[in-house]
Amino acid sequence: MPRIAYVNGQYVAHTDAMVHIEDRGYQFADGVYEVCEVRHGLIVDLTRHLDRLNRSLGELRIAWPMSRAALTQVIRQTLRRNHVRNGLFYLQVTRGVARRDHVFPKEGTPSSIVVTAKSTDPTIVAKKNASGIKAITVRDNRWDRVDIKTVGLLPNALARQQAKEAGAQEAIYIDHNGMVKEGAATNVWIVDADGILVTRPAEHGILRGITRTTLIDVAGKLDLPVAERYFSVEEMMSAREVFITAATSICFPVVSIDGQTIANGHPGSVSQKIREAFFDVAEKTVI
Ligand code: PDD
Repeated sequence: MPRIAYVNGQYVAHTDAMVHIEDRGYQFADGVYEVCEVRHGLIVDLTRHLDRLNRSLGELRIAWPMSRAALTQVIRQTLRRNHVRNGLFYLQVTRGVARRDHVFPKEGTPSSIVVTAKSTDPTIVAKKNASGIKAITVRDNRWDRVDIKTVGLLPNALARQQAKEAGAQEAIYIDHNGMVKEGAATNVWIVDADGILVTRPAEHGILRGITRTTLIDVAGKLDLPVAERYFSVEEMMSAREVFITAATSICFPVVSIDGQTIANGHPGSVSQKIREAFFDVAEKTVI
């Protein structure tokens, strides 16, 4: 079945989907994006993803490419046209097309919008959950505004590649004080010595993940204590559990970091409980 993409007002074959060479996303990474999960034909946490898109656009003063209601319809239509029941949609908004110049293009230049959708195989995620994943730690070398979900992901791509070459699946960023930040494309959590779920506070040092926010709701429903506080690499290494969260994976257990085994080397029970309860608690929107 041919994939369909939405590009600036048109649904086109994925293979023919193109943006202009002077799109500012291409030349300056001057754009923002969202990735949102679809499970059993339901979009997970759409409201929160669109709220974050609104924040990212606002922080960079990029105009919405269309109304929020219209964008919701485009997302649903793109998912329908690609027959996605389990998978994700990706959307990207850039400051538009203009002759290359660092300063913003003239007022009224339309933003560019691309929406794609793809199916994923839930059994691959299930396998990773059963075995757990490996991670490495890396020094954070990104800009200061990683709270904005921009398409400027070169450091993240390099960190993921470094992880891959080390036989791992995620790279965990560490700040100058030896405190854990987040993964290259995930938020990081531990279950500490007191059984408390701990994640770094979401000020500008990390992205405020939607999965992270919903997970706090899930923990509340399950009566699991949560603390948003800083934690060190040493504390992570000796934690009862370590796991990472993102819309594409919900909650993967981490069983080894920098070659060192975490806890008993098997996925922990807390992350499993959370994963099982996640979809009941998350907002679901019919495609
Ligand atoms: N990444 N931190 C970073 C740096 C991320 O790129 C992501 C998501 C997250 C988790 O956010 P959320 O729970 O909203 O997915 C945290 C997406 C999935 C990606 O780039 O593919």
